[in-house]
Amino acid sequence: MPGFERHVFVCTNERAADHPRGCCKSKGAVALRDKMKQELTARGLSKLIRANNAGCLDQCEHGVSVVVYPEQVWYGAVTSEDVVEIIERHLVGGEIVTRLLMPDQHKLPAELVPLRLPPRT
Ligand code: FES
Repeated sequence: MPGFERHVFVCTNERAADHPRGCCKSKGAVALRDKMKQELTARGLSKLIRANNAGCLDQCEHGVSVVVYPEQVWYGAVTSEDVVEIIERHLVGGEIVTRLLMPDQHKLPAELVPLRLPPRT
């Protein structure tokens, strides 16, 4: 069983173009998810951090919606251009990217744990 340090869920839900809530897919969610996976792999992190598709996270108006576990940090209006910053600052560095936080964020953890990288061999 793989022991991931963090999971990144990217909403890629699609709705009809005239749906009043919109959807993350129409805002570039698939490209964002693909870039997240590519950048994690390029950094050798794909065994430590898992990026997954998510269905609707019920934050459609703030999409593209991304949530990081285990700390439950929700990011909104995320674009592909934000992926490297999320990886480097949050997923590796243990620092919340405050400019991307969704409004009405639940209680944030006081401190995040930087990624525990395995020793180089
Ligand atoms: S469609 Fe992405 S949060 Fe609802």
